[in-house]
Amino acid sequence: MKKCFYYFKDKSRVKEQRSAPTLRNQSKYYTSESERVIKSSSSSPAPSPRGIPELYKEKAQNLRVFKFSELKQATSNFNRLLKIGEGGFGCVYKGTIKPVDGKGHPFVVAIKKLNRDGLQGHKQWVTEVKFLGVVDHPNLVKLIGYCAVDGERGIQRLLVYEYMPNKSLEDHLFNMSFPTLSWDQRLQIVLGAAQGLAYLHEEFEVQVIYRDFKSSNVLLDEDFKPKLSDFGLAREGPVAGQTHVSTAVVGTYGYAAPDYIETGHLTSKSDVWSFGIVLYEILTGRRSLERERPRSEQKLLNWVKQYPVDSRKFGMIMDSRLENQYSLSAAREVAKLADRCLVKSTKDRPKMSQVVESLKQVVQFSAVESPPAKHFERIEDEQMEEKPVKQMGVVESAKKRMEHLAKISENIDGVNWRRFMIMQGAKVT
Ligand SMILES: Nc1ncnc2c1ncn2[C@@H]1O[C@H](COP(=O)(O)OP(=O)(O)OP(=O)(O)O)[C@@H](O)[C@H]1O
Ligand SMILES: [Mg+2]
Repeated sequence: MKKCFYYFKDKSRVKEQRSAPTLRNQSKYYTSESERVIKSSSSSPAPSPRGIPELYKEKAQNLRVFKFSELKQATSNFNRLLKIGEGGFGCVYKGTIKPVDGKGHPFVVAIKKLNRDGLQGHKQWVTEVKFLGVVDHPNLVKLIGYCAVDGERGIQRLLVYEYMPNKSLEDHLFNMSFPTLSWDQRLQIVLGAAQGLAYLHEEFEVQVIYRDFKSSNVLLDEDFKPKLSDFGLAREGPVAGQTHVSTAVVGTYGYAAPDYIETGHLTSKSDVWSFGIVLYEILTGRRSLERERPRSEQKLLNWVKQYPVDSRKFGMIMDSRLENQYSLSAAREVAKLADRCLVKSTKDRPKMSQVVESLKQVVQFSAVESPPAKHFERIEDEQMEEKPVKQMGVVESAKKRMEHLAKISENIDGVNWRRFMIMQGAKVT
């Protein structure tokens, strides 16, 4: 998969590092990206709290350092049969390792082996170790340890994570060979993912901007609880008195905020934008970018704009794999929240803690609504709102009901039409 883009505005040269991620080496590596050019009224930043390097120094001993031979053995020499995924930076294998003290049962892990494509992969590997080595939250994947060897035959960089048996949100939303996620599961997954982001932005000692929020980076554990993975693009947020971090523009097409792509000004609100995109993905079952669709439907955001949240046709965007087993009113609330995350002005986007609160309300509200009956009652309610039934004459009331029936069948036709389109899509892909 080559979904990430790397457009470097700042092409400062950095030399290749050939050792484990010690702090001294990291600072050498991060010189160019750490140079923050900030537009701020404040000229003297407030005394800075501890940053990631200091926290890493303190917590690095929690990470296990593996020998390459251990990981080779854990994966039967990186056997293709144990390969569980592949991203832009290398392959991921399922492996079995022994507990650190050699006592107890071996346990299953996921081992990511970076392609040997030099600097960029290495840089992201170091970032991932630094950030995942210090954060700690139930909705962030645990990094167990790493392996870094610089042998005669080149460098090897590997990461060892807790194993997430249910693959990613992306797999379940878009890969037809995976079981469909129910409406409740989708809500719980986005709620957990939002809590992970809120922790990074607002609860952790240092503000962390994740920079690569997308459905493939939301992994699912045995209970389908979500955990964010892939911290290779993470950055420390702006320090006190500063409004943003100026960075090279990196991320994934279809998810990165337009303001960030245009200016390189990174804030936590860039993650909020990406979160809004994933909200629309769980509603529609469509990817943020689908190049094989007709032009007007390729960009998810452009497509959903044709079905505004307050219009009657809103229901047309909903994923047909949900088979109407959802509350339409709750879906509307999710879309409204997505729209708030996707506003142009960064300061008007909600904070992730506010997103968490809104999603908790949707979860509660959705639990008391029993789909799918409400789906249609809702349409009736809306139509009857104009004139209460009691006040209508018999003829008028019958006419209304006929109109209502017609409306319902229109809606059903719409749903079938969408399903047909999706099947067509499935055939050509
Ligand atoms: N800890 C893990 N446990 C189980 N499976 C994992 C784990 N980490 C990754 N995977 C699997 O490997 C796949 C590839 O992950 P990876 O992060 O390398 O790439 P990606 O997210 O698909 O793409 P990108 O390179 O753009 O991030 C994931 O979709 C998932 O199925
Ligand atoms: Mg990933």
